[in-house]
Amino acid sequence: MEKRVLLIVSGGIAAVKSPQLIRGLKDKGIASRCILTRGGARFVTPLALAALSGQKVYEDLFSLNDDNEMGHIELSRSADLIVVAPATAHILARMATGLADDLASTALLATDKPVMVVPAMNVRMWQHPATQLNIETLRARGVIVVGPEQGEMACGEFGFGRLSEPEDIIRAIEDFYSPASLPLGGKRALVTSGPTLEAIDPVRYIANRSSGKQGHAIAAALAELGAETTLVSGPVNEPDPVGVAVIHVQSARDMLKACENVLPTDIAVCAAAVSDWRSAEQAPSKMKKNGSAPPALELALNPDILATLSAASNKRPTLVIGFAAETNDLIAHASKKRSAKGCDWIIANDVSPASGTFGGDDNTVHLISADGVEDWPKMSKLAVARKLAERIAHSLDQQQ
Ligand code: CTP
Repeated sequence: MEKRVLLIVSGGIAAVKSPQLIRGLKDKGIASRCILTRGGARFVTPLALAALSGQKVYEDLFSLNDDNEMGHIELSRSADLIVVAPATAHILARMATGLADDLASTALLATDKPVMVVPAMNVRMWQHPATQLNIETLRARGVIVVGPEQGEMACGEFGFGRLSEPEDIIRAIEDFYSPASLPLGGKRALVTSGPTLEAIDPVRYIANRSSGKQGHAIAAALAELGAETTLVSGPVNEPDPVGVAVIHVQSARDMLKACENVLPTDIAVCAAAVSDWRSAEQAPSKMKKNGSAPPALELALNPDILATLSAASNKRPTLVIGFAAETNDLIAHASKKRSAKGCDWIIANDVSPASGTFGGDDNTVHLISADGVEDWPKMSKLAVARKLAERIAHSLDQQQ
């Protein structure tokens, strides 16, 4: 299978390294087709990129003169991976906000393919809170970020902002194509996320405030480390993470069925806020008031997905991890949950209203295992996800 990258070269002195990148990719059997932004064209010529890539270079959103030309939609889908190198602060901002004012940004908005960005800019621009927020936003959407590196810059300043060396960019692209070389390459992971909805009648349901942010971030982080990841999610507003197979479910019973179908896996992380109870009866039509007294809602216990996966006799994942959402006596309750549910690790998190965990972007967690309790400092849900994915990779590595 031919490996094809759509390379977007945006403006900046680092654009002069793009011919070297194209040549290096070609040596590895990876073909590139280029989009050159107006800024990029100030530093490198379309002719140079066309000669090296052996392909027409695309610059203009509205120049579909001949039948062989590709529009932004086709361009954005013609490759396995879109690489923005160099990625300026401006193109990162446009990506983060969804602007589509030229061919490059339009292709990036229209794509359904994984995207990698390789930032290059002045150190102050890189450190600016706006750029950092944009990068976090992009990472949360599953964009792979390579670099930037620290060093002497073309503007004479020193710091983070240098484009990664072409060989490092090529290595990251190769990792994308062969996840076997990544820490979780060859491993399979299952993650549950979000709330479950338990129908009372066709219009009413029992649910909870889970946003799915933490579970989705964990699925993305596991996939980033090379695990073949399936996310089973209740209804959330989070987008499906890139590179992850997503099964959308509503109820706890559907979530359990979907999870059992995904087994066997090496890793299971149950981050869903599964509704403990469901309405014992689901009315087939909308329940009416009819002037009578409110009906009593009888509840039935839902299956416990974490406990079921932990006890799966022949298909138990090697590492089963649960969350313990508690509002008080966090460590005591969570440790009890770990043994009661039979999982290997429990991530204990405080969900008291004061903590802001539900729906918020930060989380303060404690990792509880057979070895004891490890307190992690307050960090973003994204950082928790990455740290957890690395710990998982380390633990599976040790067990081999
Ligand atoms: N969990 C699950 N299935 C359920 C209930 C919970 O898989 N029916 C999982 C959650 O995904 C989480 C862990 O169990 O990983 C603990 O969830 P939590 O809501 O903290 O605990 P509960 O089991 O609901 O216990 P309690 O309500 O008594 O705190």
